[in-house]
Amino acid sequence: MENTYGNFDDAAREYVITRPDTPLPWLNYLGQDDLFGLCTNTAGGYTFWRDARLRRLTRYRYNDVPYDSVGRYLYVRDGDTVWNPGWKPTKAPLDRYECRHGLGYTRILGGRNGVEVELLFFVPPGEDAEVWRTTVRNVGAEAKDLRLHSYVEFCFYEALNDMTNFQRTYSIGEVEVEPEDGAIYHTTEYRERRGHYTLFGCTREISGFDTSRDAFVGVHNGLHEAAVPFAGAATGSVAHGWNPVGSHQLDLRLEPGAEETFAFVLAYVEEGDAPKFERPGVAAKERGRALLARYRERGAVDEALTAVRTFWDGLLSGFQADCPDPHATRMLNTWNQAQCLATFNLSRSASFYETGIGRGMGFRDSNQDLLGFVHLIPDRARQRLLDLAGTQLADGTCFHQYQPLTKQGNAAVGGDFYDDHLWLVLSTCAYVKETGDVSVLDEPVGYADTPGSGESLLHHLETSIAYTLRHRGPHGLPLIGHADWNDCLNLNCFSTEPDESFQTAGDVAGSRAESVMIAGLYLYACREAAALYRHLGREDDAARLDGHHAEMLAAVEAHAWDGDWYVRAYDAAGEPVGSHVCDEGKIFVESQGWCVLGGAGRDNGRARRALESVHEYLFTEHGIVLVQPAYTRYHAELGEITSYPPGVKENAGVFCHSNTWITLAWCALGEGERALETYLAICPSAQEDVDTYRAEPYVYAQMIAGPDATVPGEAKNSWLTGTAAWTFVSLAQGILGVKPGYDGLEIDPCIPRDWPGFRVTRRFRGTVYEIAVSNPDGVSGGVRSLSVDGLPVDGNRIPLATGADTVSVDVVLG
Ligand code: BGC
Ligand code: NOJ
Repeated sequence: MENTYGNFDDAAREYVITRPDTPLPWLNYLGQDDLFGLCTNTAGGYTFWRDARLRRLTRYRYNDVPYDSVGRYLYVRDGDTVWNPGWKPTKAPLDRYECRHGLGYTRILGGRNGVEVELLFFVPPGEDAEVWRTTVRNVGAEAKDLRLHSYVEFCFYEALNDMTNFQRTYSIGEVEVEPEDGAIYHTTEYRERRGHYTLFGCTREISGFDTSRDAFVGVHNGLHEAAVPFAGAATGSVAHGWNPVGSHQLDLRLEPGAEETFAFVLAYVEEGDAPKFERPGVAAKERGRALLARYRERGAVDEALTAVRTFWDGLLSGFQADCPDPHATRMLNTWNQAQCLATFNLSRSASFYETGIGRGMGFRDSNQDLLGFVHLIPDRARQRLLDLAGTQLADGTCFHQYQPLTKQGNAAVGGDFYDDHLWLVLSTCAYVKETGDVSVLDEPVGYADTPGSGESLLHHLETSIAYTLRHRGPHGLPLIGHADWNDCLNLNCFSTEPDESFQTAGDVAGSRAESVMIAGLYLYACREAAALYRHLGREDDAARLDGHHAEMLAAVEAHAWDGDWYVRAYDAAGEPVGSHVCDEGKIFVESQGWCVLGGAGRDNGRARRALESVHEYLFTEHGIVLVQPAYTRYHAELGEITSYPPGVKENAGVFCHSNTWITLAWCALGEGERALETYLAICPSAQEDVDTYRAEPYVYAQMIAGPDATVPGEAKNSWLTGTAAWTFVSLAQGILGVKPGYDGLEIDPCIPRDWPGFRVTRRFRGTVYEIAVSNPDGVSGGVRSLSVDGLPVDGNRIPLATGADTVSVDVVLG
């Protein structure tokens, strides 16, 4: 699908942006392991090592004017003109511009007046360095004498301090420069407690450098009129205090048709056990020099780039689909999986909308994210699971967040979110189904408040279930605490103070407010846990969980049915929320999705009725809005949800994450058309009005404004959202119905009746299953026959392959 700004190149797994003035900066991520870069289509963004708050290497000015300021800039001086291949910051008109966001890399090509410069940014696997492969071509008829100036602005590592504490930061900046080696070292605070520095080097000979921002840019200039490139000569400035930057000057002479390729390298370096200083006051730089030298070797940069491609090809080869819907196919095969990996690496920390200082890893977020990346990186998922469980307290309470660098939980946004612990049941079961690794259940994780206690992961699951059992309200439904999944439904907050956080306001100790969504989630978790116990051969425990399920189901059916849908909650006064009796906020999406997924309303018609109500009252061309009617005034008894203007975020925006539960719920009822329609409404690749939608066409957004908003259809908060994992699950396991099970893959599709079939390649426990599904009778689901390597198999489960590399599976629906 093409729009004014670009198009997908599916074969290359790239999104191609053909003009730089996109409706918003369109972002990509660089990096696979520890070093990550945010890179926009005009080369904006920044680089950090592991933790965007504590180890930020380059600076970014969030919400600046323009939005996307500071990045990986290269100024080209050709005669009297100065331009940038990525258009910004000079915005000098380009004869040619193309940005290709690929997996783990971004390639920007800019051309002007017979010169083309291509910048390809990536992080080699296993390396703490960002490489900018740079090619300069003379595509004109005249010889060219060009001068280039690179530019990065260093960050003093702790990003919050860096942007607030100028009385200190203006005095601490230090650099060392080795011009003969093309190397600029940012060494601020190295002299005292830091064991690391940032290297910005060039593999080609340089003719000058700058490290003082005031010298390079000029005190009264913007980056678009930076003093040095416009004046034409580097000053050799060495920063002492103020703002250290890194800039190389390079002189190139290119005959017509000639080109030159070299690289800039931006690296995070720890000298480790080596002596810290090579002379008094001079940092040891052995590792930095060696790193730069490696990329000077012929072919090294291209080899490293090949390694990035190999990494991603290997990763994605584990799941590839070919189905009649081109949007679902491309999102599944490439971008949705990339987005899932981004949520693994970054949780909700660093994006265009998240500043990298605000949030650690969310407990509920990361457990849900795992559902989308467990098939990609099962080993790392295992560790993540254990890290998460390790932040749970002995009574089942979870730290809502933890810091990636220390793995310690923090209470920065409070605790008592009474859904948190239940997501651990879902993630653990997903991991075991994917890998078959039941040993994880015995891992001695222990609890955060009883160090050394060593209780197993399975113990944590029991603690989680028990927590909900213990925290129930007057209707036998789970208490909500500060909030459940919907952070903005704050039924115990009653905040009238503009300066307090909704999430931490209010005391939940004597709370009676109940959440029907948690009830549904709990129903689902009980079923998952029961199935896990059956797999372990522990029938008594499974039966106990079935009993918990039945008991909660009875409470839901007795107290949460509103006539045409499930109520969302009971507030602190015992009044229903999301009921026909309310004057606004009569119907919510979350309780419909989770009650149906948890097994409610299946034999009394309520499940179908609830979903039909979703369709009737909440479904729109932009997706399913979270609530209707939107709240038009502030209700202290409901909290932050009513603080948002109608139609955005939780107040009747299309909160995409919750749409996926409805896709899955429709699948549970066998309605393939509805399932796909629900998906396509939020699918970025299927958006036609990109000027309204504004966000990237290749990754899901958290939110699309609903019909009540001023600009319906406008998306926000792309990339780091639970939508990524859940859309992947809803497509791969819901619609296509390829479900990891304890004893093998199960095939249970729910497709539109007019699909003739589809194919899925799925790596599962070391074997690649080539699955071909045909639909001769035009049905939505139901497996009529299944054969594995030509041999018929009863039922819809593919027996686990013993030792085979590849297995071919033919499925006929009917
Ligand atoms: C947002 C929620 C988010 C919460 C995080 C709220 O303002 O609307 O989507 O989960 O902040 O703290
Ligand atoms: C975003 C938060 O990251 C997530 O934890 C929450 O569930 C949703 N917003 C809904 O409020």
